[in-house]
Amino acid sequence: MPDPESILTRVRAHGIVPVVVLDRAEQALGLAQALIDGGLPLAEVTFRTAAAPAAIAALAERGDLTVGAGTVLTPQQVDQAAQAGARFIVSPGLSQAVVARCGELGLLCLPGAITPTEVQAGLELGLSTLKFFPAASAGGPAALAALGGPFRQVAFVPTGGVGLADLADYLTLPNVAAVGGSWMVPRAALAAGDFDRVRQLTAEAVQTAASVLGRKSAAADQAGPAPGCHAEPSAPDHGLGGN
Ligand code: 3PG
Repeated sequence: MPDPESILTRVRAHGIVPVVVLDRAEQALGLAQALIDGGLPLAEVTFRTAAAPAAIAALAERGDLTVGAGTVLTPQQVDQAAQAGARFIVSPGLSQAVVARCGELGLLCLPGAITPTEVQAGLELGLSTLKFFPAASAGGPAALAALGGPFRQVAFVPTGGVGLADLADYLTLPNVAAVGGSWMVPRAALAAGDFDRVRQLTAEAVQTAASVLGRKSAAADQAGPAPGCHAEPSAPDHGLGGN
């Protein structure tokens, strides 16, 4: 199984994480093809529907996508996701029990944090990449930039209320590892089997992300390591997913 660090490297390389809600596991294969054709072999399938474990299993079995589980609220769901083949776990908030279970299973864990207190709690659990949710209503790019002051070693995955129009504003920030969102995988399009729409929206997002990441890496080459892009161990590594 790929280690958490290599999964995080993949997530960073794409710069975007499609957050998927599938009503039926049968939608998974159409979704997979649309994501791959759109240039994004990565998906976070949320545990908001009962179809999640079967959908994750169907995507994971293909072997050509990196599949994670989202909206994971309990250690039991971590187990279910891992058994289905999820390679990373995303949580809306910071649950010590979820983080610990991910660590035991060697899974990349991206729990949510918004406030400085939550970010510090994440650091104390040995994490240095955190979801920032709900990104838009919690202050958007300005809030993330402000967190970059005291928390130079932390990278964020802003999610919630983000769309193509503001993708670049988030992804440009040095302390943003990737941007999550459902805008390229609308639930209604998936339910209607309109996978061509998903492919199109995905391709647009991939194009924007690639151009931001290209500029970012050119700037980083000139300026040296960017804050937030490399973990400076400020807490003991408890082996909790290595992120
Ligand atoms: C999430 O699960 O992270 C968010 O609900 C996705 O947010 P969005 O639908 O606003 O993109």
